[in-house]
Amino acid sequence: MQHEEQVRVIRTLIDHLDRGTNVDAGAIRKVAAADYTCPDRAAREWQAFFRDYPQVIGMSGDLPRAGSFLTVNDFGRPLLATRDADGRFRAFANVCRHRGTILEAAPRGDSTRFVCPFHAWTFSNTGALIGVPKPDHFGAIDKSCHGLIELPAAERHGILWVHPQPDGGLDVPDLLGGLDHEFATWDFASLVHIGNDTYDTPMNWKLAIDTFGETYHFEKLHRDTLAPIFYGNVQAYDTYARNHRMALCIRSIDLMRSMPERDWDVTTGAFPVYYLFPNIQINVGANAVMLVRVYPDADNPDRSVSRVSFYARPAALAADPVTTRAVPQSFAEIIRDEDYVAAAASYRGAQSGLVNHFLFGRNEPALHHYHNTYRAALGLPPLAIVAA
Ligand code: FES
Ligand SMILES: [Fe+2]
Repeated sequence: MQHEEQVRVIRTLIDHLDRGTNVDAGAIRKVAAADYTCPDRAAREWQAFFRDYPQVIGMSGDLPRAGSFLTVNDFGRPLLATRDADGRFRAFANVCRHRGTILEAAPRGDSTRFVCPFHAWTFSNTGALIGVPKPDHFGAIDKSCHGLIELPAAERHGILWVHPQPDGGLDVPDLLGGLDHEFATWDFASLVHIGNDTYDTPMNWKLAIDTFGETYHFEKLHRDTLAPIFYGNVQAYDTYARNHRMALCIRSIDLMRSMPERDWDVTTGAFPVYYLFPNIQINVGANAVMLVRVYPDADNPDRSVSRVSFYARPAALAADPVTTRAVPQSFAEIIRDEDYVAAAASYRGAQSGLVNHFLFGRNEPALHHYHNTYRAALGLPPLAIVAA
């Protein structure tokens, strides 16, 4: 984040604290409970946002070396991502060109060659078919026409993007919608991958996104965990086309009041949380970054899977590896044990059929923006205002 923007964010938060105010969406809006539970809606979302929309699959640290690979199975396309000898990030269908077997089963590792477990056709990490056993028995084929199916892939600002369709467009600056300049300042490319977690939760995927969208709940739901660290119900909020950034307010912001602005570092007093349309959260701490990818179940609106990845700043990892690894893990466990438990309970409320809509308050602008954004993408009207 550019320094003058860091100053603006911190000033905004201090101003809210001093006046007892918060960001204001300008109205209360309502969302139908059926927007979460409807199978037909879920099918439209799956097609529009996951089968046919660019996906973030990780960060540069997930492919730390030439020869690293990663497999992904979250959005209906088995995918093999590689870093080739030139350091280039590439993505392929993880599907053998002989008879379609999944080529690589491991979630990640280092290998420049991939040998199919069925009949041992072998592919390089650039997708080329380089070996067919017993070619005189199999028959003559043109190897150059039977490489892995390559997908559009881009690595920008330390984030790995893939389009799940071979002919899909991938314009990352456009997808970032005004955050391109800001993301260039975070040096995500230098982050070291330090771990993963997966939360398989009985709730619609949009409730997982919603739980990141406000801090109104901190003083109740997180009374003993996050509330001692954060001022709840105070945030700075900005939108960037389909994306947004919330800056949560850390209590140590009070230290910044006596510091000259030129020495302000936003992460001392704020915790930037980025949402990238349609399903990505990136939480930026001083020493570590957490990426959360939220996926629906293709066949079931009642279930979602959150893939949580942890990354650390190399200097922090070298100075204090135990704390640097523990902090993002414990933050994610709060999401799992408090936020997602509450969100899954909201889903049971939506399923009850007894409450036909939920409300988004004026102090929950990210929920208004997110829901109106995906609704617009599906050609649906914006959320109805119930009170100004
Ligand atoms: S299916 Fe892969 S080698 Fe036969
Ligand atoms: Fe929370």
